[in-house]
Amino acid sequence: MKGVMLAGGSGTRLRPITHSMAKQLVPVANRPILHYGLAHMAEAGIDEVCIIISPETGDDIRRSVGDGAAFGLEVTYVVQDAPRGLAHALACAMPWADGDDVLMYLGDNLVRDGLVDIVADFSTSRPNCQILLTRVDDPSSFGVAELSDTGAVERLVEKPSSPRSDLALVGVYLFDQTITGALEEIRPSARAELEITDAIQWLVDAGHRVDASIVRGWWKDTGRKEDLLHANQLVLRDLAEDVRGDVIGGQVRGSVQVDEGARVVDCDITGPVVIGRQADLRRCTIGPNTSIAAKCQLRDAHVEDSILMEDTRVDGWRLRSSLLGRSTRLGGSAPERFVELTLGEHSRIIGQ
Ligand code: TTP
Repeated sequence: MKGVMLAGGSGTRLRPITHSMAKQLVPVANRPILHYGLAHMAEAGIDEVCIIISPETGDDIRRSVGDGAAFGLEVTYVVQDAPRGLAHALACAMPWADGDDVLMYLGDNLVRDGLVDIVADFSTSRPNCQILLTRVDDPSSFGVAELSDTGAVERLVEKPSSPRSDLALVGVYLFDQTITGALEEIRPSARAELEITDAIQWLVDAGHRVDASIVRGWWKDTGRKEDLLHANQLVLRDLAEDVRGDVIGGQVRGSVQVDEGARVVDCDITGPVVIGRQADLRRCTIGPNTSIAAKCQLRDAHVEDSILMEDTRVDGWRLRSSLLGRSTRLGGSAPERFVELTLGEHSRIIGQ
């Protein structure tokens, strides 16, 4: 089986962060989201992966993943000229797949329990397609599946306005080569995309076998800021305590990771929290559920439930549920109260 990782798209729901970076490279617990999926593929025994990239952010993805050797993968890149839909992205990879089974993975998704069991199920029971489902509160933002009484997949609808089921499609799909016929036959939807739900519906209507299984652990589509922060919280929950940097004075509670070269002086840290290499924190209150990336400099700041990307500098501000892009600066006279911010790379707010 080969892997197809979708890392193109436009990421409109994560603006302004995605004005300057690929959403698949946003860090969760200080590691790009995309890296989790690639590591899961390798763990499931997949060794060849095609990454679909966009002309805008493709070079950043290439720099971040390289030839895949760090993951134990052989990676090939294919550029999708424009975000024409998940089925279009998959079609771009089909000449490369060359008739092999494929596991398609949405590069901004996180699956806690990995892919080992799913790949094993597919290889044993050999359906033409296997989808994964999970129950959600707001099905109208997802691709949704309707199952028969016996659990067979009957209908798939992309972002239905009146959902008839709360079973959302998780961003992992397995196909044998029958999908090629579907990809050739389907036409763009009302939003002008080639929908993967339409391709799978084509398989169902043509009498091919489409199996569905319910995911056991959590699954997260990190397309929106709230989901990203929730994903950060879920990943941090499993964090092992590991302090390699210098922690001087202050208090540390719960599971906290401080990477090599980081300095944490007179801070009050409540885990789960991860602090990256060469970060420098003084007189701060941090956590819970917070990721501070490498080289951040924080002074007298209070940060909770947030992600701060590399080289961010915060003086005196109180941040909650915030997402700060690389090299952001917050300084001057800070607001008294907590603020919730989403700032793109190199943003600067200096309070008067
Ligand atoms: P989506 O989150 O469905 O789409 P998007 O990236 O365009 O985001 P938004 O809705 O916020 O504008 O995409 C899921 C994953 O698939 C994500 O990693 C991007 C990738 N993708 C492609 O590679 N090509 C595409 O044509 C599309 C639509 C998505």
